[in-house]
Amino acid sequence: MLAVGVDILEVERMTRGVARFGDRFCDRFFTAREQEQCNGRATSLAGRFAVKEAVGKALGTGIGDVGWKEIEIVSDDSGRPTLALHGAAARLAAERGLGEWAISLSHTGTHAVGMAVALALDGAFLSTIVPTDITRDTDDDRRDATREDKR
Ligand SMILES: CC(C)(COP(=O)(O)OP(=O)(O)OC[C@H]1O[C@@H](n2cnc3c(N)ncnc32)[C@H](O)[C@@H]1OP(=O)(O)O)[C@@H](O)C(=O)NCCC(=O)NCCS
Repeated sequence: MLAVGVDILEVERMTRGVARFGDRFCDRFFTAREQEQCNGRATSLAGRFAVKEAVGKALGTGIGDVGWKEIEIVSDDSGRPTLALHGAAARLAAERGLGEWAISLSHTGTHAVGMAVALALDGAFLSTIVPTDITRDTDDDRRDATREDKR
């Protein structure tokens, strides 16, 4: 069985967040490696943010149960983005049998999209739909628990 997630984001949200909160904003959402590879490009940051949201959807939980930096997008030498899951995100994926992942992202000057597909190795994964507010830029390190899972 496949699990899929997709997300779209206005690049402006990233631009504004960086302008307003600087390093604190980047450090909250992005690993040092992600920041280094994006090299200040808001479009690239937005694309990675969209992929993180997409992975949350594919996991079936949204971002709420995992940390932003536990879903890491790492570009290989050709520029192709790959996924590295850490901590709770890796554990959750393992629990759900989501063992193989593919991600992709794209951006224009104004919008970025990210998608994630996972292969459930043992067929244990049950698809869920999680509504997300992708545009919040509050100081919380994690999303609050106000969202409702449509299970
Ligand atoms: C790489 C390429 C597909 C990007 O497409 P694009 O329309 O220019 O730009 P998009 O906004 O849609 O996508 C950009 C994202 O594609 C991703 N990307 C880059 N190289 C990639 C690759 N080889 N495979 C998959 N994804 C790639 C990156 O994540 C990039 O965003 P980032 O720079 O913020 O990380 C395009 O430049 C291309 O076809 N280049 C010519 C062929 C080429 O260089 N292929 C790669 C080597 S096989």
